[in-house]
Amino acid sequence: MDGKRVLLIVSGGIAAYKCPDLVRRLRERGTLVRCLLTQGGAEFVTALALQAVSEEKVYQNLFSLTDENEMGHIRLSRESDLILIAPATANIIAKMAHGQADDLATTAILASDKPVFIAPAMNHYMYNHPATQANLALLIARGVTVIGPEEGNMACREFGMGRMSEPLEIVAKLDSFFATNLPLKGKRALVTSGPTFEAIDPVRFIGNRSSGKQGHAIARALAALGCQTTLISGPTQQTDPIGVCVVHVESAREMLSACETALPADIAVCAAAVSDWRAKSEVGSKIKKAAGAAPPNLKLTDNPDILATLSQLVIKRPELVVGFAAETDDVISNATSKRKRKECDWIIANDVSPHTGTFNGDANKVHLITSGGVENWPKMSKIKVGEKLAERITAHFGDAS
Ligand code: PMT
Repeated sequence: MDGKRVLLIVSGGIAAYKCPDLVRRLRERGTLVRCLLTQGGAEFVTALALQAVSEEKVYQNLFSLTDENEMGHIRLSRESDLILIAPATANIIAKMAHGQADDLATTAILASDKPVFIAPAMNHYMYNHPATQANLALLIARGVTVIGPEEGNMACREFGMGRMSEPLEIVAKLDSFFATNLPLKGKRALVTSGPTFEAIDPVRFIGNRSSGKQGHAIARALAALGCQTTLISGPTQQTDPIGVCVVHVESAREMLSACETALPADIAVCAAAVSDWRAKSEVGSKIKKAAGAAPPNLKLTDNPDILATLSQLVIKRPELVVGFAAETDDVISNATSKRKRKECDWIIANDVSPHTGTFNGDANKVHLITSGGVENWPKMSKIKVGEKLAERITAHFGDAS
């Protein structure tokens, strides 16, 4: 981002307190940041703070003789490579969607010919309101890129979707936008990771030992090569990779539905350890252990097979579908049959026998099985497996184009 110029529009939300840090992070990467503070924004962060960290004048007023004289609303946009609105309140999003221009910020946006990024931040009811969702859909359809928001505790002491993405997350998104020579730029990937938990009753579930280390490493490696990556993660202790859109799910059915929402994608990598079965009927209250009574007879039913579903799609099938095979015996031959049965393009076989430490360990020894044969990769860290797989995927698309 060295030498790039960002016009940062700060609108009136509590998340504006993160903006001096955001400016600092952008400047660390050699970016020139010019700030435009709305009237609402100025209630949460001072022009002086933004001016101090940006070392640039802060613009505030459409009808200010000096602001318009020194840098009119047209030049503010022309002399930037990108406009970032962070935080973007429900109000400024609505104004943008409807083409209003009643202050310096909205006038500069409307007069802009530059890429526009927004980082929404608001109460979760405001975010989920059909009006806000329709406005966001309109902006996305017009080419605006939306960063976040995230789920979490809010300043209003409620919990939900609407927290502004962290400054480093925003910077990572701009970084990959400006990086022109990344080999997977323009490609979209979905990656599944971690276990699934299948509820038996409100306190018990069927799960497994997957930590999510392998799947998360793959998502991180794909994003680092410029791929727009959605990570669909079961319950894990892993931190969300920066620059990746993360969807948290619990059950196999939720994971499948999140995968379908993430389509279209060019690449799907199914590294999650999805439970093959779930309880036939989930009990709404805790199953009681009565004295002397026999243990409950748990009836199971099949879960959907996410890898097979994605591989067998007729419309929207990702061009490259990669599965994993967790085996304890006859690793290569079982994985080879699994690739054919599920109809994925590649399958990565790994031995998950207890002595290997594959589940939850930091290293993995895998075999990449394609229609062309088997590649035996040496034992390496799961991070390296992710990077090597991302390189193989890059080569695949290089060869295919
Ligand atoms: O998470 P870690 O601790 O880092 O461990 C990594 C790992 C061992 C979990 C990973 O490397 C791995 O092997 N993932 C696949 C685990 C698995 O469920 O394997 P499987 O052989 O049972 O399934 C084959 C493929 O079908 C997998 O791609 C799986 O995601 C997919 N599947 C399975 C069942 C199902 N209902 N839906 C699926 O999509």
